[in-house]
Amino acid sequence: MPDDLPLQSQTPDALMLFGFWYRALPANQLGRGELAKAMLLEQPLVLGRDQQNQPFALRDACPHRGMPLSCGHFDGQQIECSYHGWRFDAHSGQCQLIPSLVPEQNLKVDRIYAGSYPCEERDDFIWVFIPDPSPAGAGFAKPAPAPAPAPEIPKFSEHYKLAYLTADLPCSVDHGIIGLMDPAHGPFVHQAWWWRSQKSIHEKQKNFEPIPYGFRMSAHTPSSNSAPYKLLRLYADADSISTTIDFVLPNLRSEIIRAGKYWFSSLTTVTPITRSQCRIDVVAAWNLFRWIPFGPQLLKFVFAKFVEQDRRTMELQSEGLKHNPHLMLIDDADRPAKWYFGLKNAMLEVKKNGGEFRHPVSGPVTLRWRS
Ligand code: FES
Ligand SMILES: [Fe+2]
Repeated sequence: MPDDLPLQSQTPDALMLFGFWYRALPANQLGRGELAKAMLLEQPLVLGRDQQNQPFALRDACPHRGMPLSCGHFDGQQIECSYHGWRFDAHSGQCQLIPSLVPEQNLKVDRIYAGSYPCEERDDFIWVFIPDPSPAGAGFAKPAPAPAPAPEIPKFSEHYKLAYLTADLPCSVDHGIIGLMDPAHGPFVHQAWWWRSQKSIHEKQKNFEPIPYGFRMSAHTPSSNSAPYKLLRLYADADSISTTIDFVLPNLRSEIIRAGKYWFSSLTTVTPITRSQCRIDVVAAWNLFRWIPFGPQLLKFVFAKFVEQDRRTMELQSEGLKHNPHLMLIDDADRPAKWYFGLKNAMLEVKKNGGEFRHPVSGPVTLRWRS
C-alpha cells in the first residue's frame, strides 16, 4: 500500500469483520437462569445462562414474527416467546413447541431454529462467535461450531488475579483500534504525575515483526522514564523486563510483561457494536503484588484513568469526524495504523474472493517516533 494514501482510502468504510469471536458482556452481568441483551456487529443478541451456568447466545428475534426473545420467559433450559409461546432450546435455538398446532397439523417443529451463536465464557467475559453472514433467504439452521475456541489471556503461573474494565466509545471500530495502537498521543492525552509528563517526550525506536494475521512489537525493556516500570524492576529484582505487544485481527491487543517470576498479561479488545459505536474491554491477569489487598483496585484505578482519557479523547474526536474531514496517517508513528488497515483489507479480500492472505508486513521492521 502506498504510504501517502489519505486515511479515507485505507478505511474500508467501517466494515466489520465477521467470522470471529467477540466479547459480548462481562460474565458477572449474567446470572444463572437470567437473560441479558447485547449488540455485536449490529446484531441484536439475547444472552443467558442455563441451570448448569453454561452461557448461550441467540439472535434476539423470534423466527416466527420477530418478537425479541429477550422479552420472553426463560425456565433455565428453554425460552418461550412472549408473543405466541413458541419454545426454543436455549443452546441450539431449535424449536421445541408451537402451542397453536392441533394434532393433525404435522409441521416439523424441530426443523425450525432461532438464530444461535457459539458462546463461551473466558477470563470474566462472555464471548460470542459471529459467523460470516449466510446466503440471503437461507433461514436459520443448527449453528456451525466455531472454528477455534475463544481467545484467552496467556497466564504464566497457577495463581493470579484478574480484573477488567470496559468503556463505550462513540466511534467506529477502526478509530477505536487505531486510537489504541497509536503511540504519539501518549504525552498529550495520558498525562499524570505518576506516569509521565509532556516534557518527557523523547525519541523511541521499536522493533516490529509480522505474526499470523497481525504484528508484534518485540520484547524489549520498556521506557525507563516511567515510574511504574522503575518500581517493577526494583520489586521483581529482575535484571530485565520484557514486554511483548501483539495486535491480531480482528481486534485483539495483547500485552505481556515478564520480570523474573512475576508477570502481567492483558488482552484488550475493541468490539464493533454498530458501525459508529464500539466498546473497549481491558482484561488483565497478573501475579504481581498479589499480597497487596488493594492490588486489583489499584490496578483498576490506573487502567480506568487511561481508558477514561482515551474515551474522552475519542468522544471529542467524534465531533470532528462527523463532517467527514480529510485525514492522514504519517510515518512512522501511524505505521501500525496503516498495518491494521492493510490486515483488515487483506482479510476482507480473502473473504470476498478467496485466495491467500496477503500480509501487509513483509518482515521485521524498526519504527522511530517521538513520544
Ligand atoms: S413472534 Fe415469537 S412466537 Fe410468534
Ligand atoms: Fe491511549
